[in-house]
Amino acid sequence: MPAVSFQHVAKTYRGASGSFQALDDVSFDIEEGEFFGLLGPNGAGKTTLISILAGLTRASTGRVTVMGHDVVADYAAARKALGIVPQELVFDPFFSVRETLRIQSGYFGVRNNDAWIDELLASLGLADKAGNNMRQLSGGMKRRVLVAQALVHRPPVIVLDEPTAGVDVELRQTLWQFVARLNREGHTVLLTTHYLEEAEALCHRIAMLKRGQVVALDRTANLLAGTASTMLRFKTDDPLPPEIAAHARVTGRIAQVTAHDAAEVEQLLARLRAAGVRVEDLEIGRADLEDVFLEIMQGAPQAAAARAEVTA
Ligand SMILES: Nc1ncnc2c1ncn2[C@@H]1O[C@H](COP(=O)(O)OP(=O)(O)OP(=O)(O)O)[C@@H](O)[C@H]1O
Ligand SMILES: [Mg+2]
Repeated sequence: MPAVSFQHVAKTYRGASGSFQALDDVSFDIEEGEFFGLLGPNGAGKTTLISILAGLTRASTGRVTVMGHDVVADYAAARKALGIVPQELVFDPFFSVRETLRIQSGYFGVRNNDAWIDELLASLGLADKAGNNMRQLSGGMKRRVLVAQALVHRPPVIVLDEPTAGVDVELRQTLWQFVARLNREGHTVLLTTHYLEEAEALCHRIAMLKRGQVVALDRTANLLAGTASTMLRFKTDDPLPPEIAAHARVTGRIAQVTAHDAAEVEQLLARLRAAGVRVEDLEIGRADLEDVFLEIMQGAPQAAAARAEVTA
């Protein structure tokens, strides 16, 4: 049984100014124990998909399950299996941090939760803020409370919608260590982020959304291997042949050239040798997830543009 299953999910928002199709036939499963990344530019439909998963928004068509529970027909069980860190900061300013977490525990019927609440507070660097009212916290601290709130009932599936937006470097590291630990302990994680180096480092598999459609879905390693180019970096004191210089990034003695596969790497090196260029400190690296993301997003629009605007 997958931890999360999206089956042919479509969503059309209808309003006074017309209709807008935010999701178009989205289907994929997230397996139990996976760390799964959902990426896409602003407005791609990530938060909409998460809102449907959370039961906050109804899909126009399609079906979504969490740990086998339908998010509409079996809402309470599905919701209990989820811990959601929302993109928007929402909180009650009148309660303290600890009260907020106790109330959330009560909401899920969890009693005597103080030991776990203390562990959450400590893990998220909030221990000294437990007695503070929510309005006395900085933006980044409020976000930490939202993370704690999502985890208070130890849900098997954790959903993080841009949890590191506006968050300092230290909390990012604390947060990822903590979430990675929960993932190792068996929790399934669904993450959206615009920090692609985070996604590359953390996610086993990644789906990319563009205008409401899935345009890529694969293991992170395959995405990196399949689409992106290879990067060659070396030092030289000799002038590069013009056809290579035209495509090279040169910083002082260091030249950086990209190639699409091993054959192209060999050709490049052969041409450098033929031109008498002496190459030192040659490094061959790979392009990163940001290159892959840009390549996919700039790729075939899949007629999505035509379908995105639906006139009611
Ligand atoms: N309540 C709503 N009514 C009408 N349109 C909406 C509503 N909520 C979202 N949309 C539209 O649906 C599209 C997808 O929005 P969504 O918030 O899901 O994007 P996102 O991928 O989460 O973007 P971001 O990276 O900026 O968070 C956008 O074009 C947005 O304007
Ligand atoms: Mg969003």
